[in-house]
Amino acid sequence: MKAKKCGFVTGCVMAVGALACSAGTTERPAAEAQAPGVVDMSPPPPMTEAPEGTGKLAATFKEHFGVGVAVEPRHLTSVGPILSGDFNRLTAENAMKFAQLHPSEGSYAFERADEIAEFARQHSMAMTGHALVWYRETPAWLVAANDPSATTAALDEHIRTVVERYADVTDNWDVVNEAISDSGGKTYRDGDEGSKLYPLYGGQQYIKVAFESAAAAVSATGKSIALYYNDYNVVDDAKRAKIIEMVRWLKAEGVQIDGVGLQAHWNIEWPNDALLQKTIDELVAEGVKLKISELDLSVYTKDDYGTETWEPQKEFTADLAQRQAQRYQQLFALFAKNAEHITSVTFWGVSDDQTWLDDFPAAGRNNYPLLFDDQHQPKPAYFSILQAL
Ligand code: XIL
Repeated sequence: MKAKKCGFVTGCVMAVGALACSAGTTERPAAEAQAPGVVDMSPPPPMTEAPEGTGKLAATFKEHFGVGVAVEPRHLTSVGPILSGDFNRLTAENAMKFAQLHPSEGSYAFERADEIAEFARQHSMAMTGHALVWYRETPAWLVAANDPSATTAALDEHIRTVVERYADVTDNWDVVNEAISDSGGKTYRDGDEGSKLYPLYGGQQYIKVAFESAAAAVSATGKSIALYYNDYNVVDDAKRAKIIEMVRWLKAEGVQIDGVGLQAHWNIEWPNDALLQKTIDELVAEGVKLKISELDLSVYTKDDYGTETWEPQKEFTADLAQRQAQRYQQLFALFAKNAEHITSVTFWGVSDDQTWLDDFPAAGRNNYPLLFDDQHQPKPAYFSILQAL
């Protein structure tokens, strides 16, 4: 077994806590918010040149959709040439989440998000804003007054401030992330599933509040910035039905919602093309745009979220690398076929040495879900995607 891959020990993001999820699927709830965990203590060694043979990814899909990647500030130097060479979009993996940007009332911490935004500007890349409201990044201060109207005012102030600050570089925001329940019998994530806002408002009204503030904020900037709902397990029929119910509710209320983001924390066998195509078709029929917002393909296909049983550590063999490459290629062929409806495809990380899946759902189990390996060299998956068209 390989040593823990995180090269910068103090920079490791410790994601803990797996929640139950729809049986039979492998995409799961997000890890715990990492408030104290995401600290870059030592500067990573800078990469000066992109690896040989790379620099073709975004260019290959230029006529189809943007190709993005989620980053922390450290990646801007440790894999900078890969970012600017292979991608035309960035998402802040953590730096633009509510509690990261706005840890206490009246006090913003923009530095990490600003660094990423500046890199994007310098390299003419677009950004996805992620995320204005997410239950795991709702700071306690936001609900402390126990008064929905105070929270609405604070939410509105936050959303206007943040949307305006990055308006020149973002073309869409995840307005609300993961607000739908994983349990049968209820549509929305409530207090039992970790939402602080649902119990405060006595329902899902906060979703409407957030989308309305976001629409007003965008309109004040005069820019065209699309407003998305983003979630995992969108391919699950029951979960998707609830997402569609929410989209219809917002539209019936006259609230602007432009798109739905499929996180796409999938594995090398799941979901299959038929399920994915059905998912795309059903959402397109609702009149929303789609994006693949957090793509990574785990090599663990037998994890059971119902019983919280995780497959033991695997070695990343040549066979596994080939299977992953083939699945990535099939997915990109399918995305390209649906390009009319898909605005962007974003990977949730650059290289296998730094992936949140090393700690989620099983702490300390190495995963190999991305396009570049631990040494930041392109994997078979990288080259196979280039052949998808
Ligand atoms: C994850 C990050 O990758 C981790 O670094 C952090 O500890 C927890 O959040 N769904 C989302 C993302 O919308 O924001 C999550 O990102 C992964 C699941």
